Amino acid sequence: MGVSYIPVARIGELSAGAMKEVDLGGRQVLVTFTEGQYFAFSRQCPHEDADLKEAGQLVNVNGTQMIRCNNHSYCFDIKTGDCTLPKGGVPLTVLPTEARGEEICIRLEW
Ligand code: FES
Repeated sequence: MGVSYIPVARIGELSAGAMKEVDLGGRQVLVTFTEGQYFAFSRQCPHEDADLKEAGQLVNVNGTQMIRCNNHSYCFDIKTGDCTLPKGGVPLTVLPTEARGEEICIRLEW
């Protein structure tokens, strides 16, 4: 198994709640910083493909960081990708992030 780290932001680059667009080999990803943690997930809502850069809103529900797609109000846990509203909906693709030196990287395994 191999591991690659793809730098996507510098530590301190993103203000709280900001969402940065990243092109990951043709796949559009959003990187965000909220409540002291970095998250990366698909820019495309898995429901009906809304652009989460425009339609997505970070919300905290009972201590869990979510992104709500304002197109139809679906909610996704940005750590696990689980669709929590409606429960059991198609999950959001999330990618693990890791601080390496001064950079935030997406960790890809194959
Ligand atoms: S397109 Fe995102 S909830 Fe429908």
